[in-house]
Amino acid sequence: MERRQLLKSSLAFLGTATLISFVYPASKFLIPPKNNAQDAQVTLDKDQIPPGTAKEILYNGVPLVIINRRGSGFIALSRVCTHLGCLVGYDSFNNKMVCPCHAAEFDLEGKVLAGPATKPLPRYPLKISSKQITIG
Ligand code: FES
Repeated sequence: MERRQLLKSSLAFLGTATLISFVYPASKFLIPPKNNAQDAQVTLDKDQIPPGTAKEILYNGVPLVIINRRGSGFIALSRVCTHLGCLVGYDSFNNKMVCPCHAAEFDLEGKVLAGPATKPLPRYPLKISSKQITIG
C-alpha cells in the first residue's frame, strides 16, 4: 500500500469515526427510548402500611412514598424535593415530609409548608381495593 493511499484511508476512517461520534448521541437525544416500564404498575398489600406509617417504593424509576394518613387514607407522593432534587423523608412524629438537604417541609398532601422549595411534591394516582393499593 502506498503511503498516500494509507494516509487517505486513515483520514477517511477518522472522519467517519468523528461523524458517528456526533450523529449517534444526537439521534439518542432526539429520539426518546421506547420504555415499556412506563406501563408498569406496583401493587402493595394495605397491611404493609398501617395508619400513620409510610412505605418508600420505586415506581418507573421515580422514588415515591405511599403514606397511610390517619383519618385521610392513602396518598402517593414523589420523594424528589422540588427545590434541588434531594429525597424527602416521611416524619411520622410531626406528620410531614422533610428534605434533609435544605430543610424544606411539605404537608401530607405534598403542599409546601416551609421553603426553600416553592412547588408541591407531585402526587401519583392510586387505586385502592379492599386489600390492595395499586400505583399506575
Ligand atoms: S433540595 Fe430539598 S430543600 Fe433543597
